[in-house]
Amino acid sequence: MDQHKFILSESEMPKAWYNIAADLPFEMPPVLHPGTQQPITPDDLAPLFPMAIIEQEVSTERFIPIPEAVQEIYRIWRPSPLVRAYRLEKAIGTRSKIYFKNESVSPAGSHKPNTAVAQAYYNAKEGVKKLTTETGAGQWGSALALACNFFGLECLVFMVRVSFDGKPYRKSMIESWGARIFASPSKETACGREILARDPECSGSLGIAISEAVEVAVADEKTKYSLGSVLNHVMLHQTVIGEEAQQQMKLAGDYPDIVIGCVGGGSNFAGISFPFIKDKFAGKKLQAIAVEPTACPSLTKGLYAYDYGDTGKLTPLVAMYTLGHNFIPSRIHAGGLRYHGASPLVSRLVKEGFIEARSYQQTEVFQAAVTFARSEGIIPAPETAHAIRATIDEAKKADEEGVSKTILFNFSGHGHFDMSAYDAYFSKRLEDNHFSDTALQKNLAEIADLPKV
Ligand SMILES: Cc1ncc(COP(=O)(O)O)c(C=O)c1O
Repeated sequence: MDQHKFILSESEMPKAWYNIAADLPFEMPPVLHPGTQQPITPDDLAPLFPMAIIEQEVSTERFIPIPEAVQEIYRIWRPSPLVRAYRLEKAIGTRSKIYFKNESVSPAGSHKPNTAVAQAYYNAKEGVKKLTTETGAGQWGSALALACNFFGLECLVFMVRVSFDGKPYRKSMIESWGARIFASPSKETACGREILARDPECSGSLGIAISEAVEVAVADEKTKYSLGSVLNHVMLHQTVIGEEAQQQMKLAGDYPDIVIGCVGGGSNFAGISFPFIKDKFAGKKLQAIAVEPTACPSLTKGLYAYDYGDTGKLTPLVAMYTLGHNFIPSRIHAGGLRYHGASPLVSRLVKEGFIEARSYQQTEVFQAAVTFARSEGIIPAPETAHAIRATIDEAKKADEEGVSKTILFNFSGHGHFDMSAYDAYFSKRLEDNHFSDTALQKNLAEIADLPKV
């Protein structure tokens, strides 16, 4: 009998997150203060984050213990299953082996609660009363609403307008967990009002929503800001995915040749790949592939440079692949991948050649999503479907080369709130994007005066 699922018991769940900063074979450029452009100090970050999170952001400890209160909530859905995708393999007729780590089993439907729960815990412990955040697809806003609910924190979510309009039930979900939500740009903040005055129809972007959330957080001592991706501590919290996957691959008697994840800010990709990249640093052969949309190709077309994390220039300057903080991606359905930058850690690992990056158009991504739904049954989030597209292509490439590969990808979330996107695909209203290099050059020119890496 073929075993489909590789399951760990709750007692086998990792007790510490893996911090890749301990093993990097290069120095990371410092994070700079947005005003002085000098290296940032913990005190500079204190209005935004609790001290425990700031310490994790700069820590070089290899393993950081997962607090028991966080583990207790993780146990609602963790350890998540590792699945051998036999039916997908058969559907595409490959002789490669495909595994996926199913992060869609969390209450919010994605990997995002892995860090939301940790962040809510540390904030509550330090006496914070309210968290503000941005959300693209709504997965992160849902995750933080869920986590704040568990730790008795108020939660305020700014959701990118295009997703807010396209996914009304994410709003209801966020409200079910007791949070408040606004479409961004909103009239709640000076930044939102300024953008709406210039462009009343603005579809929004993660960069704008971050500016709004940061503006509200810095105005009140008991309110802090929470980010769902990009920063080092978020990558850290997500490594529980890859740590579990390593134990589960052992149960399956396998080790991946290729690890794949989609990239918005980089957290689910970092989560699954960093524990394996640790082995790669130690000499193991492994291909790590980061997949992004052609409409927002920060890793494949961006510049490795210092840039702001948000449109309003309120966040620190970080060295990353960026399309420029004023870049507003076109209205694609993978809302969670519409971010102008990417995690500094993921960016630098791409630059140094430890990670490959590639991009896809949305129709080819939805084709892969439907192949997966019709073989494995689960309907993927459009973001996740980018990883599935790359997985299918890698399996086919191996077949053409006459070899069998073991491929592991992160199934970062389900698409139950994305059915209008599927509807657009089935009714042939889904359009591929023609990325404008002229617009990119204009946006990159706007960061030319920032400090050089
Ligand atoms: C299901 C899903 N996958 C992936 C992402 C991309 O984020 P990240 O690159 O931080 O994993 C998102 C973001 O909202 C998401 O909702």
